[in-house]
Amino acid sequence: MNDKILDGVFIAGEIKSELALKVADRLKQGKRPPHLVAVLIGEDGGSLSYVQHKVNDCAQVGFTSTVKRFPADYSEASLMALIAELNANKNVDGCIVQLPLPAHISVSKVIEAIHPSKDVDGFHPVNLGRMMVNVPGFVPATPWGILQLLKRSGVGAQGEHIVVVGRSQIVGSPLSVLLSRDISGGNATVTLAHRYTRNLEALCREADILITAIGKPAFFGESYVKEGAVVVDVGTTRVADAANAKGWRLSGDVNFERVYDKVSKITPVPGGVGPMTRVGLLHNTWLASENILY
Ligand code: GUN
Repeated sequence: MNDKILDGVFIAGEIKSELALKVADRLKQGKRPPHLVAVLIGEDGGSLSYVQHKVNDCAQVGFTSTVKRFPADYSEASLMALIAELNANKNVDGCIVQLPLPAHISVSKVIEAIHPSKDVDGFHPVNLGRMMVNVPGFVPATPWGILQLLKRSGVGAQGEHIVVVGRSQIVGSPLSVLLSRDISGGNATVTLAHRYTRNLEALCREADILITAIGKPAFFGESYVKEGAVVVDVGTTRVADAANAKGWRLSGDVNFERVYDKVSKITPVPGGVGPMTRVGLLHNTWLASENILY
């Protein structure tokens, strides 16, 4: 990899090695390994594959994991009862319910049912609120991963103008808060742009660090990027690709080839933010197992 590439695979690997050492230490103290439970409802292809990745990631660093799988017609009441059971189970450190959920189940009800001390997705309002008031809590995996990727690649955020495009509850909104907090890797001046932002192109050209999270393949070309800017591409959309054995490939929000000569650093898709998100969940599960936050 050249030094223009923000290499998520490499940095996630570093963090995984650190976690594996911590697990070994924990076992020496006679404790059990950290344990993540993932609840998967229905047959969504993307979700199946994400959960399988999470299981493999856990095994790689010495965590245990359990997948609880149910059909698409599993009731909301059953799910709430299961969450209550997992909340009370001392052998479960972290609990996630894979999204999206079938339409008959309320996502916000489910998120709020998971006890904040086991909410390793960092989606519970208590954890999001803690971030808002600069108190340690579980930070959602993608924002945490992006902060680590920048920090560990030597990209300082302090005093920089960061434009985040996309205000999702999971990525853009928490990321804009996190990067502006008075924390190591933070202290940036953050603008959060969205579908109603006027002159998006000109705004993005003002960014020292441009972070795109809108899920529109190759939307951002060279006219959106300042010379020498750092670009972080959160987009991962499947697009048809006959040349690929699977018939599709992942595309970021950024037109990588068109902006490459202009940027000082850029994340590839795949291999940039994705692996950092995955390691973010491991990091949170580790914190949960050690009762560091709650
Ligand atoms: N679906 C897509 N991303 C996520 C995630 O980070 N957590 C959960 N629980 N579901 C998801």
